[in-house]
Amino acid sequence: MGSRAAANLPEHIAIVMDGNGRWAKARALPRRLGHRQGAENMRNIIEACLDLGIRYLTLYAFSTENWKRPAAEVDYLMGLPGQFYERERHLLHKHQVRVVIIGDLETVPAATREVIMQMESETTDYRALTVFLAFNYGARAELAMAAERLAKKWQAGEIKKITEADVANALYTGGYPDPDLVIRCGNEMRLSNFLLWQSAYAELYFSQKLWPDFSKRDLVQAVEDFARRGRRFGGIDNISNEPRREER
Ligand code: FPP
Repeated sequence: MGSRAAANLPEHIAIVMDGNGRWAKARALPRRLGHRQGAENMRNIIEACLDLGIRYLTLYAFSTENWKRPAAEVDYLMGLPGQFYERERHLLHKHQVRVVIIGDLETVPAATREVIMQMESETTDYRALTVFLAFNYGARAELAMAAERLAKKWQAGEIKKITEADVANALYTGGYPDPDLVIRCGNEMRLSNFLLWQSAYAELYFSQKLWPDFSKRDLVQAVEDFARRGRRFGGIDNISNEPRREER
């Protein structure tokens, strides 16, 4: 057993980075500066995950519902992947951090799509930490996309029944582990269409901190809280899915 498992650390942490607008408002700044600060905070949390030995980190950066925001704010958010890669390229290469995008890239501006694909391809061999950037992501859209993929396979006669594993593999996250811990910042208690299938058995953690203020220390606190919880996955035992001796 690795030291991460021994310490009961999550293998995969997913975060709803909420509160950028309120962070800016509290300082009488335009909302975009809240997003800029939020994007900069991603470095702190990536570094904290590297320090802790977390293998997967998913960050909710732009949802399928965020298109409803004013055009100027959407434009600014579309520029963030490019700014992020320019600023953090060195960190990603130095620490072998892979970036994988989950979401629909077809409808994002070409310049954003290109920088995202460049970031993915230039980090594709790295395995110290995989960062899933959820961009133009929505869980319901993802499930509809998976249903369409499976319907095509069915039509082609490639499958005769649809299992849970088939659905999981048809999602953007197919082949990767589900999140163990889902953190939402910004003092809101909802999932907002984030990883609805994958989070079926995730532990949920809500932080009052606004995302730009969510520090390494806050992440460690969330992980310590996770380590104290007993996960049963619908069973009755804390750590094992095996039947207990007296029940065999
Ligand atoms: C929600 O806060 C946050 C967002 C919609 C955007 C989150 C994006 C980042 C933190 C940076 C993304 C970075 C890259 C590289 C793509 P909100 O605006 O809803 O905050 P509020 O609830 O306080 O108004």
